[in-house]
Formats: sequence, structure tokens, C-alpha cells
Amino acid sequence: MSDRSFYLTTPIYYVNSVPHLGTAYTTVAADALARYRRMTGADVHFLTGLDEHGQKVAQAAEEAGMSPQEWCDSIAPKFVEAWEMLSVTNDDFIRTTEERHKRGVQAFWQALHDAGHLYQGHYEGWYCVPCETYYTEEQVMEHECPSCGRDVEFIREDNWFFKLSAFEQQLLDLYESREAEGRPFIRPETRRNEVLSFVKGGLKDLSISRTTFTWGVPLPFGDGRHVTYVWIDALLNYITAIGYGDPDRAEEFARRWPAQYHFVGKDIIRFHCVIWPAMLMAAGLEVPECVYAHGFLLTKGEKMSKSKGNAQTPASLVERFGVDAYRYYFLRDVRFGEDGSISMEAMVQRYNGDLANDWGNLCSRLFNMTEKYFDGVVPAPPADAPTAADETMRAIAAALPGRYEEAMAALDYGTALEAAWELIKDANRYIENEAPWNLAKAEETRPRLAAVLYNALEAVRIAALFCAPVMPLTSAEVWRRIGLGDIHAVTDVASAATWGGLPEGARVEKGEPLFPRIYEDA
Ligand code: MSP
Repeated sequence: MSDRSFYLTTPIYYVNSVPHLGTAYTTVAADALARYRRMTGADVHFLTGLDEHGQKVAQAAEEAGMSPQEWCDSIAPKFVEAWEMLSVTNDDFIRTTEERHKRGVQAFWQALHDAGHLYQGHYEGWYCVPCETYYTEEQVMEHECPSCGRDVEFIREDNWFFKLSAFEQQLLDLYESREAEGRPFIRPETRRNEVLSFVKGGLKDLSISRTTFTWGVPLPFGDGRHVTYVWIDALLNYITAIGYGDPDRAEEFARRWPAQYHFVGKDIIRFHCVIWPAMLMAAGLEVPECVYAHGFLLTKGEKMSKSKGNAQTPASLVERFGVDAYRYYFLRDVRFGEDGSISMEAMVQRYNGDLANDWGNLCSRLFNMTEKYFDGVVPAPPADAPTAADETMRAIAAALPGRYEEAMAALDYGTALEAAWELIKDANRYIENEAPWNLAKAEETRPRLAAVLYNALEAVRIAALFCAPVMPLTSAEVWRRIGLGDIHAVTDVASAATWGGLPEGARVEKGEPLFPRIYEDA
């Protein structure tokens, strides 16, 4: 284990709306990776949080008849609760209205100001409040935001500017050198190409302050009228949360920064892949290892979002399918990095097929048979030479840690889960072919019965390990039911997955079905 921490982040979400399937998607994906990396012994630091400043939040508060801070305080618990409900194990939760953040933002501005990267100027142009983004005259057609289609405002203000244009070549060099080193800064590749052509098209300096409202972090210099442009404020959360600007946390900052991954939706890659690394370079800080942009969840072909009125909350689905099945569906059915259509029908199908039939049934049958034939006690590991079927299952189990690791390194959750499913499916096949119910009929086949149940239980033990990052609750329950300790305490998954780890004599508990079948019209 290296002493560097494995720091990963989600975007910090706007508090103008409550969590929905889209924001939960990023958060759950990050959580599955965080959980898996803890299982490989990494010192994981997983950050999520809230973006609480800016005009959009101030407007939402006004509409609700609250002060901006009251509004933020009323929404923040909804995010905390949603992530708890989804078994998200973030190590920290940052809110940009916290003192630690404000202090860090001001320290950052001072550093950039002192190094000559800022200048005062005059901004005239178009602004989209819902996107909190500036646009040029050419970008706004008919006064519509090119991103969300809503009306943009013409703004005219005295602002401070960041010399973003000066970083064009350094950014291009960054993308290229990382590519050459085989550790791309932007993934997946389609996004990299998009960013590359944007930067090659030429960068303009960026207005980094606003004077027409006050809901933001004040710049520490100038005439006191300027608050930080909300996107800059938000991006800085990734460093302020881990102690940037706080002399008492310098050691922590050095250990955690640069981040291993920023998980973001594809809608916000320019901020993360252009503005953010330029800001870091200007401050003399390292840039993150990788910005990974995933696609959109689509319902009936449209992006799910609050503004489109098709946003669903996770709670309704969790109530029907349970937390683990919720997490499983989005990570198994939507290819991470691409857009993915989601539907209730597909979710029911995945649930009944993969979870109720394959995984749930395998566990139920085995736990029942162990109870019936061995009074619920794990039999001794087989002493006889393995049969061809035994060998096949052991070979699949032996290959699983490597295949899973490779898929997770590529953030290919679907393939990682498929690898676990190969073992689950083989174990089901094994039970069918070996037919323990026949072996139980005669005394002379009892040793083989014991061997078959031991082997299949061992496959279940190992499969549960690799289900755990995505399905933490049921995996822990499977381990508990086969008499093992806390699956979440595993810090060396490869050795935990070594064949033969199931101790003879462990007590197996039948329990209720892990994934009771769902009937379409229920
Ligand atoms: N506050 C900014 C981010 C600042 S990060 C320094 C923001 N917030 S947001 O609340 O609008 O969240 C955007 C993020 O939510 C997207 O980047 C993506 O991670 C997630 N999603 C929102 N809708 C989504 C879908 N329909 N599908 C998938 N993810 C989506 O932008």
C-alpha cells in the first residue's frame, strides 16, 4: 500500500433542487469505486458536497421566501439523507458556505493575485443563470442558452479576470503528455477530443467575479464589492475540503492532493478539464490524475433533469427494489461514460433475472441445503481430487480478482459485475449438474455431497466479495449468513478471495430471500 491517498470526488451539487436519479448516479458510481479501493487496501478519501453560492441559489431562496443561508440549510439535509439511504460512504461532505471553504477560496485568490494572474476589466456579455455560465454573442442564438435552451441575460459589470488565455499551450501540453504516458487526463476518449478541439479554438480570459449580487465568497482584495464567480468557487471545493490554505492541515493536503479522480457528468467538462487545471497551474499546484466524464441518464430519450420536469427521486425506486438493486441496476445497465436509457421495465428485468434468479436463488438453495443435509454447518473442504466441474469453478474464481481489477481500473462497472456473474452462473450450473438432492439419497455419495456444498458455498463467499462494492448490504448479509465476519472490513480482496477461505464448521443461516421476485404489476 502506498502512502498516497486515493482521493476521489463527485461534483458538488446545486442546492436549487433535491437529489434525483442523475445526481445519485455520479454519487453511487463514485461510492462503488471508493468501496472497492478500500477493499484493495487504499487510503480512500471520498468527497461529495454542495454548491451553495451564486445567483441561481439566491433566486431559489428568494422564491421560497428565505435567506440564501436558510435555504441552503433546509436543502442540505436532503442530500445527506439521500446519500445515507443509498449507502454512500463519503468520507467528507463539503458545503461551500462553510468557513473552511471560504478561507481556502480567499487564500487561493490572494495567491493568484500576488502571482499576477488576475486583472481588473469590464465584462459585457450573456449569462445563463440556471447554468451559471457566460456565453459570447456568437454562442447565444435568439437569446437562448446553447446548453439548456433557457433565456440568457445580458450583463455589463466591472469584473476581475483570470488570464485563462495564457494557459492554452500548457493545457494542450498537459493533454498530450498525459496521453503519451498512458494516463490520460480526460477520460473517456470522446470527451478528450471534445475538450481538445475547444482549447485549440482559442481561450478567452475568464471573468471570475460578480458585483450585481452578494451571495458568494468576497474577493480578499479590491473594493469589497466583488464576490467570486460561482463556478470558480465550486471548483475550489476539491482543494479547500482537504485543507488548502490552512497551515494546520498542510500535511493532509500534501498526502491527498492531487486527486485520483474527479467524477463529473459530461455537461461540465469544460469547467473541469480547461478552467480547473489552468487555475491549478496558475497557483503552482498539481493537476488531478484524471477527470472522468460519464454520460446522461435518459428517460424516453431525454436527459433527466429538474428543468425538464422528468427528474425522479431515488427514494421511490429504493422503496420498490431496495438499495442494492437500485445501485446494481444503474451500474450494470448503463455503460459508464456513455448515455444510457433507463426504464422501469428494464429495472424489473435486471432485478428478476440477475438478482432474484441468479444470485438470490443460488444463495437460498445453498443455504437451505446446508441446513437440510448438514444441520446448517459448513462441511469440511473436500479431501478428494477435484473433478473437472470443480476445477472449472475454481478456475473462474481464481481469475475473478484480476478481471474485476482490470474492469474497475477502466471504470467499467458492467464488465466488473459480469466477471462476478460468471462465477455466480457457474455455481448455479454446478448445482444443477451435481444435483446435491440426488447425492443426499445414499450414504456412499455423502462425501461428494459435502464436497459439492463446500465448493458452491465457497463460490458464494467469493462472489459476495466482488458484489460488495456495488451491493454492500446484501453482500454483508451473505457473509453473515455463512458465518463470516464483516465483509466491509476486508482490505486485501485478492487474498480474501483465495480458494478455501471458508472455514469448516461455520454456521449457515437460511434467512429470507435476498431479492424476493417482483411481479410487473405489483
Ligand atoms: N454545481 C455544479 C457542479 C460544480 S462541481 C465543482 C453542478 N451541479 S448540478 O447539481 O447541476 O449537478 C450536475 C451533475 O449531476 C452532473 O455533472 C452529473 O454528475 C449529475 N447529473 C445531473 N443530471 C444527470 C443525468 N440526467 N444523468 C447523469 N448525471 C447527471 O453542475
